[in-house]
Amino acid sequence: MTGNQGIQLVDLDEDGVDRAFRADVLAGLKQAQKAIPARWLYDDAGSQLFEDITQVPEYYPTRAETEILETRGAEFAEAIGSGRAVVEFGSGSSVKTPLLLKAIDPGAYVPLDIAGDFLRASAAELSAKFPGLPVYPVEADFTRRVELPAEVADMPKLGFFSGSTIGNMVPRTAVDLLRSMRETLGTDAQLLIGMDLIKDKAVLEAAYDDAAGVTAQFNLNLLRRINRELDGTIPVEKFHHEARWNDTFARIEMHAVAEADVAFSVAGEDFAMQAGETIHTENSHKFDLRSANMLLLAGHWTPTARWTDEAGRFSVVLAKATIARAAP
Ligand code: AVJ
Repeated sequence: MTGNQGIQLVDLDEDGVDRAFRADVLAGLKQAQKAIPARWLYDDAGSQLFEDITQVPEYYPTRAETEILETRGAEFAEAIGSGRAVVEFGSGSSVKTPLLLKAIDPGAYVPLDIAGDFLRASAAELSAKFPGLPVYPVEADFTRRVELPAEVADMPKLGFFSGSTIGNMVPRTAVDLLRSMRETLGTDAQLLIGMDLIKDKAVLEAAYDDAAGVTAQFNLNLLRRINRELDGTIPVEKFHHEARWNDTFARIEMHAVAEADVAFSVAGEDFAMQAGETIHTENSHKFDLRSANMLLLAGHWTPTARWTDEAGRFSVVLAKATIARAAP
């Protein structure tokens, strides 16, 4: 193991409150359209609820992407070649990551994550599964350029960013992230990225509002977290979950909708909402061939191959680092 472990990435005040969480929530609740960045959905309870979401029948993305990784291994091997250091953005999935590593004969595996405990646990699990594979976890915020371990300096890199997590970012943030990845990975890098596809609105809305109510719990858990960690008094029982397709921006939006006029406080500040007013808690952008390619190109990646599942619901795109050219 190497990397930046030990660096404090979470800044707590003297009461143990996460300063960035408080700042994001207070700023977000002061906006005309209240909104809280989606990253705060993933505390321990939220991460467990997301795992549960991947098991509900309506939520197809995890199964569709896994199907692609399971069935297209030979094509990945052909397109990617062996000996690359696989740099995974996010701690990785215990199912998807091994499928990729098994397919391509990599030189090393470098998981990057901001959450150190998760990172070390999943790195250890992977080492056990692939005894000959060097694993170098790095605790880092990968929205910035990351210094990779010296051990992989001479290997060409393959970035791996699964789950259509890129879709959680608005385009300008997604482009910034893709450019940072390009900086982290170097000029001869490739990127393998999961991107969920635009499809029937009813299918999309059901995937984000399952009948068992797991996604609703995932969404409302954010309000509970605010109450717990930021001394909040949000009447969670007066809110309901809503998943909305926004056709202009090609995204599913999660909102917490106030069912009545409500007043509450968070971290000593007072807020009020009228019945029907919402807190916007997540975007999940969906793509087609051209919008996916355009986003990657804007992020300094040139698409080279693309796979979809049998039912055509989800895409996995391979791209290579774009070489800057003067013209045209
Ligand atoms: C893990 C961010 C890819 O956007 O589909 C699932 C999160 N939100 N259901 C997604 C999520 C509601 C998921 N990502």
